[in-house]
Amino acid sequence: MTRFSYSHSTGSTTVLISPDLDFSGFFSERPPGKRIAVADENLAAVLKNTHPGLFSLFDGVITIPEGEEAKSFLEFERLISLLAAAGADRRTTLVAVGGGVTGDLTGFAAATYMRGIPVVQIPTTLLSQIDSSIGGKTGINLTPGKNLLGAFWQPEAILIDPVFLKSLPLREVYSALGEMLKYCVLYSGSDFAEFTEMITTTPAASLIQNSDGKLTAWIEKSVRYKTAVVEADEKEQNIRAFLNLGHTLGHAIEKHYGFDELRHGEAVSIGIWFASWLSGTMGLLDEKSIEKIKFCVQSLVPRKPQQKIWNQEAVMSYLLKDKKKESDVLTFILPVKIGKCERVKLTDFALLDDRIREFRKQELQWD
Ligand SMILES: NC(=O)c1ccc[n+]([C@@H]2O[C@H](COP(=O)([O-])OP(=O)(O)OC[C@H]3O[C@@H](n4cnc5c(N)ncnc54)[C@H](O)[C@@H]3O)[C@@H](O)[C@H]2O)c1
Ligand SMILES: [Zn+2]
Repeated sequence: MTRFSYSHSTGSTTVLISPDLDFSGFFSERPPGKRIAVADENLAAVLKNTHPGLFSLFDGVITIPEGEEAKSFLEFERLISLLAAAGADRRTTLVAVGGGVTGDLTGFAAATYMRGIPVVQIPTTLLSQIDSSIGGKTGINLTPGKNLLGAFWQPEAILIDPVFLKSLPLREVYSALGEMLKYCVLYSGSDFAEFTEMITTTPAASLIQNSDGKLTAWIEKSVRYKTAVVEADEKEQNIRAFLNLGHTLGHAIEKHYGFDELRHGEAVSIGIWFASWLSGTMGLLDEKSIEKIKFCVQSLVPRKPQQKIWNQEAVMSYLLKDKKKESDVLTFILPVKIGKCERVKLTDFALLDDRIREFRKQELQWD
C-alpha cells in the first residue's frame, strides 16, 4: 500500500492507494463520531454486488441521484436536511463514495454543514481517483453556470482503491485517461512516451483489470503530480492554473457537443491537441511533438465526434465569455515541449477564431 500526505492551509490530507484497500482498518482507527456515507443511486446498486460489506462500515448511507444533476442546489439542500435529520453533529464525518459528482457535492456539504465537518473521499471513478477527489475544490452548479457555488475544503483522507474501476464503463476510463495525458504533457516527456506506449498497446478493458499493477502505478503517479501542485498553490493563485491545460477549448466543445457525444476527458484530450497545434502556429512547439500528441489523443478519443454539433460561433462565444473574467485577454496553457508548458495570453480574437476554424478542419478528418 502507498501512504503519503500533502499539506495545506488547514493541516494535511492522508492519501492511501492500494488494490483491496482495508477500509475497515482505516475507519476503526479514527476518533469516535458518526460516519455517514453519500453515494449515487447507480453506484450504490453496483457496490451491493461488488463490495457488499462496504456500507456496513457506516452509521448511515444517503443516496443522491446519478449524474451531474445531483450537483444542484436542490440536492444540496436535501442532503443537508437528511444530515440534520440523522443527527449529524460536528464530530460526524461525511464519506463521499463515488465519482466527481458525489465528491464535489458531499465535499461542499461538509464544508458548510455546521460551518464545516470532516470529509473522507473514497473515489470510485478513474477521474475522481486521479483528479477531482484531490485538492479540496468542492461545489455545486447553479443555473448561470457550472461549479458557481463552492468552497475549498480539504478532505481528511483520500482512500483510492483501483479495484473499484473494474465495474466502470470503458468510456469513463478513456475519458479519465485524458487527464492523465494532461499530467504527462505538463510535467514529463518520459512519462508521456510511456503513457502513449501503454494506451496504444493495452486495451482499456485489460488496463482496468490491473493484473500487472500498471494502472495502480499510473494512478499513483497522477495523484503525486496533483498533490504536489495543490501543496504549492492550494487556492489556484498561480501554478494550479496550469492544470487547465486543454480545458479552455475543452470546456467550450464539451458544452456544445453535449455529454453523450463527448465526455469531459475526451474534450480535454482534444483541447490538449489544440493547445499543442496552436503552440506550433506560434512557433513555440515543434512539429514532431505536435504529431506525437495528436497520435496519443486519437488513441484516447477513438470515436470521432459528430460534425453537426460543432458550432464555431457557439464555441467562440463560450471562449469569449470566459475571457470577460480577465478583461480583454484569454489565457491559454500551451506546451513549449512535451513535459513543459507556459501561460500565453492571447488578445487577437479574430486570429484565434481563424485558428480554431483551421484546427476544426483537421479534427474532423481523423478516422
Ligand atoms: N473538484 C475538482 O477538483 C474536480 C475536478 C475535475 C472534475 N470535477 C467534477 O467531477 C464531476 C465528474 O466526475 P466523474 O467523471 O467521476 O462523474 P460521476 O461522478 O458522474 O460518475 C460517472 C458515472 O460513473 C458511475 N460510477 C462511479 N463509480 C463507478 C464504479 N466503480 N463502477 C461503475 N460505475 C461507477 C456513476 O454512478 C456515474 O454514473 C464533474 O461534476 C466535474 O465538475 C471536479
Ligand atoms: Zn478536467
